[in-house]
Amino acid sequence: MAILPILIAPDPILKTKSERIDTIDESIRQLAADMFETMYNEEGIGLAAVQVGVLKRILVTDVTWRTREEMGDIESGEQYVLINPEIIEDSGDEHVYKEGCLSLPSQFSEVTRPSEVRVRYQDLDGKSQEQTFDGLLATCIQHEIDHLNGIIFVDHISSVKRDMILRKLTKQKRAGVFDHHEHDHVHGEHCNHG
Ligand code: NI
Repeated sequence: MAILPILIAPDPILKTKSERIDTIDESIRQLAADMFETMYNEEGIGLAAVQVGVLKRILVTDVTWRTREEMGDIESGEQYVLINPEIIEDSGDEHVYKEGCLSLPSQFSEVTRPSEVRVRYQDLDGKSQEQTFDGLLATCIQHEIDHLNGIIFVDHISSVKRDMILRKLTKQKRAGVFDHHEHDHVHGEHCNHG
């Protein structure tokens, strides 16, 4: 397993649409394992392959992991790997959640999305699945599917606010703020990262 470097917005790769995965083989299973390790290392709840520079339609999520008090490490919760995911139905309502993203460190914004989605996807065995997700998992999966289509959460907010956030990140990148992959997480906010 390996911790992979995460791309920080603005980055043209993050705006690129990822390609369908035709063969689910050992390399895809390894990628999923590395993505989980990378996500947990950054205390995130979801990660799309494009965020580690791989333009393939695969995302991982675990919104129920816990920090093991005595060890200080992470105990995984319910893990999902969604390959070639497609939203086939949504609840049509407007649910607001303050989102964040590992590719936009320390930036948060309220985003409106349906509270429930039915998703068709393939699992790591290549089996076709259909499942309805609600709550944080529904928000997270919609956020990650957006990534596969070259969309980041600030694309859902006003252009004024989006430009402000992207300008701030550009400045921070130039200053080398993200170069050392140090943890600067504010306790309690990690649950918003995807
Ligand atoms: Ni994200």
